[in-house]
Amino acid sequence: MSIIYSPETKQFQLNTNKTSYVMQVQKDRLQHLYWGARLPDKDHAFMRRDHYHSSFNANDEVNDFGFSLDVMRMEYPCYGRGEMRPSAFEMTHPEGSSIADPVYIGHQITAGKEVPKGLPSCYAESEAECETLEILLEDKPSSVVLHLFYCVFEAYNAIVRFVRVENKGQQNVVINKLLSASLDLDVSDLEMISNYGAWARERNIERHKIFHGTQEIFSRRGASSHTHNPFLILCDPSATESVGDVYGMTLVYSGSFEGTVYLDSFEQTRMAIGLQHEGFAWQLAPGEMLDSPEAVLVYSHNGLGGLSDDYHRLFRERLCRGIYRDQRRPVLLNCWEACYFNFDEEKIVSIAKEAAQMGVELIVVDDGWFGKRDQDNCSLGDWTPNPKKLPGGVKGLAEKVRAAGCELGIWFEPEMISPDSDLYRAHPEWVLSIPGRPRSLGRWQMILDLSRKDVQDYLFDSIASVIGEGNISYVKWDFNRNFSEVGSALLSANQQGEVAHRYYLGLYALLERLNRAFPQVLFESCSGGGGRFDAGLLPYMPQAWTSDNTDAIKRLWIQYGSSFVYPLSSMSAHVSICPNHQTGETSPFQTRVLTALTGSFGFELNPFDLNKEEKEEFAAAVSLYKELGDLLCKGRYHRLSDPDKKNYAAWNYQSVDEREIFAVAVCHHSVVNGGPERFRLFGLKKGYVYQSKTDGHIYSAEELTQYGLQLPYPMKERQAAFWHLKAI
Ligand code: DGJ
Repeated sequence: MSIIYSPETKQFQLNTNKTSYVMQVQKDRLQHLYWGARLPDKDHAFMRRDHYHSSFNANDEVNDFGFSLDVMRMEYPCYGRGEMRPSAFEMTHPEGSSIADPVYIGHQITAGKEVPKGLPSCYAESEAECETLEILLEDKPSSVVLHLFYCVFEAYNAIVRFVRVENKGQQNVVINKLLSASLDLDVSDLEMISNYGAWARERNIERHKIFHGTQEIFSRRGASSHTHNPFLILCDPSATESVGDVYGMTLVYSGSFEGTVYLDSFEQTRMAIGLQHEGFAWQLAPGEMLDSPEAVLVYSHNGLGGLSDDYHRLFRERLCRGIYRDQRRPVLLNCWEACYFNFDEEKIVSIAKEAAQMGVELIVVDDGWFGKRDQDNCSLGDWTPNPKKLPGGVKGLAEKVRAAGCELGIWFEPEMISPDSDLYRAHPEWVLSIPGRPRSLGRWQMILDLSRKDVQDYLFDSIASVIGEGNISYVKWDFNRNFSEVGSALLSANQQGEVAHRYYLGLYALLERLNRAFPQVLFESCSGGGGRFDAGLLPYMPQAWTSDNTDAIKRLWIQYGSSFVYPLSSMSAHVSICPNHQTGETSPFQTRVLTALTGSFGFELNPFDLNKEEKEEFAAAVSLYKELGDLLCKGRYHRLSDPDKKNYAAWNYQSVDEREIFAVAVCHHSVVNGGPERFRLFGLKKGYVYQSKTDGHIYSAEELTQYGLQLPYPMKERQAAFWHLKAI
């Protein structure tokens, strides 16, 4: 049993293999006592801080001056009754007030996993794998009930939280804020790790000491965004990759979000994540319920590496689904950088023939195959093949590509519509828009209103028909602009604050239908690269195009930052041509290959642009990827060098049976006349002896862990090296 409740102390203790999470009901309020390394199952009430209160603060009606909501470590704080710190939940009552004061009214513990309705979620494969605690809190005067769910994945060291709000009263209320998780840690000396970025430079890691007050990451862009990613980490100042307390929260959602850290004046740290509340206003009629997205909470006593390891395993094995979950992904060649809009059937087929000879398994036709689209200003929405480019349609192309030895994949940007499209001419009302205001364009396009069932049906039929016609085995699902004028023609005026979230409920419903109809199709998400690289899309699309920046050196940071939470199998990484199309830089072929081997591997180039030697390297890289297979798809990954701190990045993978190691180092800038460098491997099993497949050298696990591997000397800028070791 991973969830224990003591009726005497009113304490809940949630245990995973390595962690404990403790809450207590005190004076009907649910307070947080502890989240950290595993504790014995006992009374932990001494962890409360009953002996102080906040001067000036409102006290409860019990008139107990030792009890104040403003200093209590709250599990789900609400505004209006004395809690003055950032809240997790806000609602507006019919009389106009926005107070919420939920008190404990009961709980239940059940085997298995509860899921939020209509939203992506982690899952348990058996009831024994997960236990769920549901705590009920009620705002008595309004009869609005909050169901706090805690799904405990014991073997994954993870707690998945979400909140269901239910209106049991007689009148409508408006939900203005519904975060997925919030908790107050009894510690102040922490550092926050989050990320920032932009198109082609996503997920840069930033770490800083927290200050008194609020620090926030967020997106109001209608997508999780390039700007910040929906994960938050707090850690000891001394935490490294392998030691130290680390607390993580990741949101399983793809739309706008907020993640907050608040250090209060009594040295307690609030950490919260959930839906973006600005602009959010959800009408909840009597009898109705609304679920928040899930937040996945992971604590590690073994530093950042331990945290990433737990996230990777959970996301890979209990968030991703479908036949590709446990399979090496096909080696693909995407034609975007090879052709951009300039292609036809003949060109694609010739690329397929050439690529197939070097081991490529899948050819992806990117943007430009449909409507009259020869540039990015038209035809989104008209998902019928351009007869000039594809005279035999998708079917004809697929047959020829298959005859050449590859499967066919195809690009869609389903959520968008071009003003210059037959679809827009027929259905201008299908666009997100606000009456009387201009409809802004981004990349010449507008956004379809996916909250509408007719739009979802149109997209399902269009995509299904192309997949069926070509027997397509892969879809790249792109999304290339942020939201603006978020309004829906079908919803009433007082429901317009629901549109952004209803959009995502619609998108997830559409993806669910497509997954069910085409279980054999591998879907890959993309949003100008990594603009919607989040846990919310992983159940439907187990990999994402990590960034439009394919420069191997720039990718070091992007992939490093992504790896804090997301498994390598979810990061699509391709070898591209040089000079690189984004940076103009040139890197050795091996460097491009080794960097791309940190994810689901492929190419983004025209093989006819390669010389003979590069073609041989290309084929060798494909063979290596196929040989490494499960090691990359399911193995454990360890970051060994932070590219911001060293002039090289290094990492290693370890097979599930711990007998195979693949280590990589890439120098991103050379140090003239510098000292020789070495890096230590991580996670090896004591007593094992490994032989290098490259040069036959024999190393003990202890040597590799304590001393490490020496980098080539001198290591040139943009040079990479690898070590493939097998236990003997
Ligand atoms: C943005 C994507 O990130 C690119 O890979 C490519 O698919 C273009 N869109 C096509 O318009």
